[in-house]
Amino acid sequence: MSQAPDAAPRPTANMFDVEAVRAEFPILAQEVNGRPLVYLDNGATSQKPRRVIDAIRRYYESDNANVHRGLHALSGRATDAFEGARDTVRAFLNAADRREIVFVRGATEGLNLVAQGWVRPRLGPDDEIVVTTMEHHSNIVPWQLVCRQTGARLRVVPIHDDGTLDMEAFAGLLNERTKVVAVAHVSNALGTINPVREIIAMAHDVGAVTVLDGAQAAPHGAVDVQALDCDFYVFSSHKCYGPSGMGVLWGRAERLDEAEPYQGGGDMIRTVSFEESTWNDLPYKFEAGTPNIAGAIGLGAAIEFVTALGMDAIAAYEHEVLEYATEALGEMGGIRIIGTAPEKAGIVSFVVDGVHPHDVGTIADQNGVAIRAGHHCAMPLMRRYRVPATSRASLALYNTRADIDALVAGLHKVKEIFDR
Ligand code: ALA
Repeated sequence: MSQAPDAAPRPTANMFDVEAVRAEFPILAQEVNGRPLVYLDNGATSQKPRRVIDAIRRYYESDNANVHRGLHALSGRATDAFEGARDTVRAFLNAADRREIVFVRGATEGLNLVAQGWVRPRLGPDDEIVVTTMEHHSNIVPWQLVCRQTGARLRVVPIHDDGTLDMEAFAGLLNERTKVVAVAHVSNALGTINPVREIIAMAHDVGAVTVLDGAQAAPHGAVDVQALDCDFYVFSSHKCYGPSGMGVLWGRAERLDEAEPYQGGGDMIRTVSFEESTWNDLPYKFEAGTPNIAGAIGLGAAIEFVTALGMDAIAAYEHEVLEYATEALGEMGGIRIIGTAPEKAGIVSFVVDGVHPHDVGTIADQNGVAIRAGHHCAMPLMRRYRVPATSRASLALYNTRADIDALVAGLHKVKEIFDR
């Protein structure tokens, strides 16, 4: 998902055996409120395949020990598995160097690390940070904090009604004061796939550093940080079929070398004295304290799982289900889809005329269908569309057309109840 539209022909969705994929996810084989579970809240978190659960259990059952510290066999095995996961992530992002993969708690921590470690020491009152109207709070608030700390100014790129960025306005916001451009690769509330290569090139032309929030992109298509040519990229494990409390910050080695440590503690130091401490090599300089070892191992297993299926095949399959969902909701009438960009990942945000999104979510749940209703941690975006909230169906590789049919049946129920 380096950018849309792809130059290369897309793999077709029928390369993908969704029933075999579903069989890998034990949680899906259950009923909720007397109906088969239909899980369409993958933007919030994805379900976990058996091999991820097994990898974590195996680690705790047979290898549990701290990493990088012990001389004993268990510590050696734990370290190999933990560092093996880093290699897996490196390949997943096509990063040039494993030292560029920093394990963090999630995309949010990655963004805060960049804001405080690289940006804050370089920012002054005359500088500007550019974000967009569609950002998740995680890609707004860390920059607001750093603006407050330094006197710099936050500038916001507006969007068109269809949920695409106003690129002319973006160009108009860029100037020699722009130090950082921080943008979602894919919007969590609209599904828009942003033209990130163009954005990165334009930002670099004025000397700005680029930060991509890939939380909603990395699980749904191939990401190549070298082809993107950005400076920092973050994503979360739990949205990518891995465990929660785990995430990745990728940064160019040069930028990470320049950055100050974000947290102090064990593992991130080379030497410590009361007069002065010195820092460990990358990436350990940013990994203070005992890391989330099981989390990294689980993430590694999740990435091996999706990589074996093929990220392009996953993207093609999800795109087909997205088109089916968009058409089905469009045909119902009385439903407004928020976010109709030509290039979208598997997210359908919508409002049902005259019905609060929370009521839509509750009635859908009574039918066994899990969707999210709320502001999706994107309050400025909700304000832009003059809605307090939306209902959101967000897809993963195990969703089917039958899942969408169940959603539509739930929405008919909503309409029946509220038409009375
Ligand atoms: N950021 C997550 C979402 O979009 C929680 O639902």
